[in-house]
Order: sequence, then C-alpha cells, then structure tokens
Amino acid sequence: MPPMATSGANYRLFWQQFRQAFHSTGAVMPSGPRLCRALARHVAGNGKPRRILEVGPGTGVVTTEIIAHLGPQDSLDIVELNEHFVAALRERLQADDSWRRVADRVRLHHVAVEQFMTDEPFDCIISGLPLNNFPVEVVRGILLHLEGIAGDGATLSFFEYVGVRKAKSMLCSREERQRLTGIGEAMDEALDKWEIGRDCVMANVPPAWVHHLRIGKSPGDSRQGTVIGGCVQDHVAYSDD
Ligand SMILES: C[S@@+](CC[C@H](N)C(=O)[O-])C[C@H]1O[C@@H](n2cnc3c(N)ncnc32)[C@H](O)[C@@H]1O
Repeated sequence: MPPMATSGANYRLFWQQFRQAFHSTGAVMPSGPRLCRALARHVAGNGKPRRILEVGPGTGVVTTEIIAHLGPQDSLDIVELNEHFVAALRERLQADDSWRRVADRVRLHHVAVEQFMTDEPFDCIISGLPLNNFPVEVVRGILLHLEGIAGDGATLSFFEYVGVRKAKSMLCSREERQRLTGIGEAMDEALDKWEIGRDCVMANVPPAWVHHLRIGKSPGDSRQGTVIGGCVQDHVAYSDD
C-alpha cells in the first residue's frame, strides 16, 4: 500500500489519540516532514551494522524517514506505549512497501520505554516522547535509562516545541510551573553535558527544536561533535558552544 493511502487514516488516528490520551500523545498531529528529517539526521552510518532505536513513534512518520536511511545491515527497534499506535505500526510493517522491505530487521515493542530492556546497546536513539508532559522524575529516569542502553559514541535526537514551556508557564498553576521549571533544569543539564548540535525547524506546526546529544559513554567527547550546518532546508542550525 502506498504511504499516501494511509496518511489520512494516520492523521485521524493521531487526533483520536490526542483526545483520548492527551498526556502521552502530547501533540495534535504527527510531526511534519522537515521535523522528521531533522530527527533522522544521525541514522545513516559508515556502512558498519548499526542498531537504531526509536521511542514514541506514534503513527510512524519519523519511522519512515529512519527506514529511508537504514543501511543494509542496520536494525531498528521501535518502542511504543499506545496500543492503537502499535496496531497501526504493525499494519504498516505488512502493508507499506518501504516498511515491508526492512520488516525482517525491525522489531516492534509494545511497552513503556522506561520498561524496555535490551542486551545490546544502541548506536542511535530517536525520541518522539512528549517529555514536557511528564513528571520531572520520569523525565530524569528516561534520560538515565536511554543513557544506560546507549553504546559508545551513541547519539540521541529528540524534539520539543519552541517556547512551549515558557508559554505554558504563563498560564498554569504554581505547581505546574514548578514541574515545568524542573523539566527545564533536567533538560538543560543533559544538553550542557551532551549536546552536539540542534536544528530549529520553523516549517512545522508548531515550530520545534531538535536536539542532538552524544550520550554514548565517552563524556570527554560530548562537546566535540559536528556542528550541524543547516543541512535541512529552512532550518537554522548552530552549536551552542
Ligand atoms: C508527540 S507523539 C510523537 C509521535 C511521532 N514520533 C511524531 O513525531 O509524529 C509522542 C509518542 O510517544 C508515545 N509515548 C508516550 N509515552 C511513552 C512511553 N513512556 N514509552 C513509549 N512511548 C511513549 C505516544 O504514545 C506517542 O506515540
């Protein structure tokens, strides 16, 4: 089945899940193509087999971009909490041509990322998790967990909508403001330690930052990554060194 045939159904499913499970879905619609491209920036390797992990794939828009960059020996693990998204992803693995071609190297896990275990570390992790919706200790736990399952020199790419914490903070209760401040602190700590570049994707609704972190186990390397240079059209990109 061509991807276009499924996209209307995927939008409907996303909207339904936004309404039924707002907290974990965290967005009204799937990420746009440019955001997906920025998130998949570190997927392609140098020909050696790589283990890729995507957490929070939703309907699979980022997954499609990841699959496009998978090398012939790479594998992809997908971790999704929501059973409706899992069912849609399972179907795509059977029905969508580009997905079917790599289906024998893709494993779909219906589990919360916090509970996802692996024997072998990952080289590249891409997260679509709505971290700004979670309690601070959950965010810290997830970041630690991802660090624990990342191999040497592994990257983590994730996004957040531009200005979302600031905007929410102006309208919410004191408790909620404290939570958002705590998440900002947890993220800043991670970014200070590991960030190697970021993309600002203005051509998305809403606009988003994509953060790229080197969370692999060589902390000395963490600030020495490539300065990302606006490879995706319409993206402002810089290193914050
Ligand atoms: C903002 S949506 C992103 C979907 C997709 N990656 C995109 O960019 O359009 C967040 C996704 O994370 C999933 N999710 C939320 N909490 C999760 C958890 N603890 N473990 C795994 N997936 C989770 C949601 O079900 C949803 O699919």
